[in-house]
Amino acid sequence: MPATPVRLEDDALALPRLTRRGALFGAAALLSPLVPRIGSAAAAPTPVPAAATATAVSTGLVRLDSNENPYGPSPAARRAILASVVDAPRYADKSVVDLTHALAARDGFDPAQVVVGSGSGELLTVAGLLAAEGGTGGELVASHPTFEDLPRFAAKMGVTTRWIPPDADHRHDLGAMLAAVGPRTRLVYVCNPNNPTGTALPHAALAAFIRAVPRDVLVLVDEAYIDLVDADDVASVVPMVHDCPNLVVLRTFSKIHGLAGLRIGYSVAGPELSARIENKLTTYPNSTGMQAAIASLGDHEFITTTRTALIADRRRVEAAIDALGRPRAKSQGNFVFFDTGMPHKAFFERLLAQQIKIGRHFDRYDTWARITIGTRPEVDRLLAALPGALRA
Ligand SMILES: Cc1ncc(COP(=O)(O)O)c(C=O)c1O
Repeated sequence: MPATPVRLEDDALALPRLTRRGALFGAAALLSPLVPRIGSAAAAPTPVPAAATATAVSTGLVRLDSNENPYGPSPAARRAILASVVDAPRYADKSVVDLTHALAARDGFDPAQVVVGSGSGELLTVAGLLAAEGGTGGELVASHPTFEDLPRFAAKMGVTTRWIPPDADHRHDLGAMLAAVGPRTRLVYVCNPNNPTGTALPHAALAAFIRAVPRDVLVLVDEAYIDLVDADDVASVVPMVHDCPNLVVLRTFSKIHGLAGLRIGYSVAGPELSARIENKLTTYPNSTGMQAAIASLGDHEFITTTRTALIADRRRVEAAIDALGRPRAKSQGNFVFFDTGMPHKAFFERLLAQQIKIGRHFDRYDTWARITIGTRPEVDRLLAALPGALRA
């Protein structure tokens, strides 16, 4: 039977009518971000909220569940998003070239070493495809718990993961991971800082590990949260791609740049590995996201103030957890991971009853919770709710 044609005026399909007032309000909202402003030298930076942009605040639900950056996008990125509308009818070839060159120029690479994807999530999928080359039976080595997109996708491709427990400080156990590399290993996944623990590896140890992995095994270092690091001994391994042909580093515009919904990430690797990555891309990034990313790269004030605010609030949350006597991991990301002392579900529901949504349950960490650092007022609400939620 032929499908009933859908009439454009059907309610379900009708677009909201764009009035002039609505358009003005929408544009004003886009252009007035929750930019955290640095106050006096002594005082902590004070975010200045613009209510129109703060969906989470205006609806009452504080979303501290997905490690997003609610201060974003930067003012420059907001302007670029609006301006990008004229390019919407076109495929985004030029934006790919522009963003690739901007990233390469910033970090001193040949553009052939940078591959832009639809979020770093797409590039994790590509890594799964690379690990699957050579047929089923291959292995991936990863720490547990970690960000699971790559192991999950690799499993669908017939690549099994050897999960390595973390060390006593909830960091990747690099010695045990190296020992787990064997003839079947195709890829080693290192998440630094790690999601969900937030822990980061000292640069010297990670660099030695990367050099020790055999050259026919890929090493993927996921640096989604590297911009939130404040530990002196932690640093990006991006410069190592110059002399480690089996190393690929992933970065994203979803975290410090606050562009998660626009899906832009990138990889940096040697030219040959980059060509293999590019060859396996599954889709094409969008022009609005890439133009926002280019603008955001140049908005140094936004990056600095956001980073300062998120790190200051991470410290406040960690101090509160310590004061409440709960064990925690040392976070270098925009989230904290700690032992609530009760089943995750119970703690999750206690905070949800106060309109605060936190991260999901992680296997083998049944009493632990991951909470994202939100805006200053959101963190204030969390800190007010924590003592009651943790009460036995
Ligand atoms: C460690 C890690 N890598 C990658 C991603 C995916 O980021 P993207 O939005 O770039 O796909 C996330 C998202 O939370 C993450 O935590």
